[in-house]
Amino acid sequence: MDSILLLPLVALLVVAISWLWDYTVVRLIWRPHCIAKEFREKQGIRGPAYKFLGGNNGEISRLKEEADDQVLDNLRDHNYLPRIAPHFLKWRAQYGEAFLFWYGAKPRICIFDYELARQILSSKSGHFLKNDAPPTLVALMGKGLVLLEGTDWVRHRRVINPAFNMDKLKMMISTMTGCAQSLAKELEDVAAKNKDRVTEVDLNQKFRELTADIIAHTAFGSSYQLGKEAFQAQHELTEITMATLFQVQLPGLNYLPTERNRRKWRLQKNLRDTLMQIIRSRLSSKDGEYGNDLLGLMLGACASDEQGEASSLSMDEIVDECKTFFLAGHETTSLLLTWTVFLLSVYPEWQERLRNEVLRECGTDQCPDANSLGKLKEARNKNLFLYTI
Ligand code: HEM
Repeated sequence: MDSILLLPLVALLVVAISWLWDYTVVRLIWRPHCIAKEFREKQGIRGPAYKFLGGNNGEISRLKEEADDQVLDNLRDHNYLPRIAPHFLKWRAQYGEAFLFWYGAKPRICIFDYELARQILSSKSGHFLKNDAPPTLVALMGKGLVLLEGTDWVRHRRVINPAFNMDKLKMMISTMTGCAQSLAKELEDVAAKNKDRVTEVDLNQKFRELTADIIAHTAFGSSYQLGKEAFQAQHELTEITMATLFQVQLPGLNYLPTERNRRKWRLQKNLRDTLMQIIRSRLSSKDGEYGNDLLGLMLGACASDEQGEASSLSMDEIVDECKTFFLAGHETTSLLLTWTVFLLSVYPEWQERLRNEVLRECGTDQCPDANSLGKLKEARNKNLFLYTI
């Protein structure tokens, strides 16, 4: 063969072999072996053995599936950890309060010591960084506040902080109660159609719709319909991501045009295009006002930066923050509501106390507002509505 052709081929082969060597031997075999040995011998931290490529993902999925199949027979049993994280409990019993385990070839240390957890979470040393998120998660939630570190995190935080000051949050309360009232009305209407005014409803689904509605309104204001479309695409992407979270991720698999990947790419494009559409229409608003919702405040902060103030976010970064807020604020709050209603049904005495308090402080025909919320001491003490970032 002509040496002009042969040389590039040889070079290509050398590159491919060294990549394969680095990926399989160094990253998938040698590195996990050295890390496990180092922790075991130098710090006495042991853990379940690393399995080639998949780490402990197989065992985690199996234990979680077994736990999911168990029936919740004692509703007042508050020992939930065996259902949520059975793998951690199993390894804690085997290896102690701190152990090393593997998400694929990524090492993780789990600690059960609260004091240690407090020190790590409040440490300013810069030693404890956030986990490197898998590409599927980054595509889903964007490189927003939850995944950012260091100066980028500070810059984003500076732009977003004003959206969460107390006055702005208070202004959002009427939007929130409005959404909650339409859900209450919908449920009443459904019940009214039945003879005995009783009906069965999947409340978890209803709360998902409610929290999506609230985030779409508070983040995107007048553009909330488009916001909900973006949200639907993100919801479908979440399902794909969660279904593959513990599967072995071979490099390159994400680029193959499989049916799942093609659906994923389509949804990612829809999500981005819809968010861009919302942002563009806001930027072209004639009066130069961007609005009082989260998006408006982000755009306003960036516009003020063009005049030489504060920090700014690029268009892509704003899109990423929109994705982050949808994801961070949706499932968390809807599950909190479902869980609260579940607990109130298990403890009717508390249901009665809280209902009496609401009726006492807000009356029968007044909707709760910022002032009356402050007076709901029983509910606050029970942490029934308390969350600020
Ligand atoms: C019950 C409800 C919620 C719970 C339990 C919850 C939980 C958490 C936790 C544990 C973190 C820290 C994550 C980490 O640093 O690794 C976090 C951060 C965050 N959450 Fe929530 N969250 C809730 C509601 C919300 C809502 C409603 C929003 C927005 C609309 C939101 C947006 C965020 C953001 C942006 C961050 C990152 C903050 C930063 O790093 O500066 N969360 N949340």
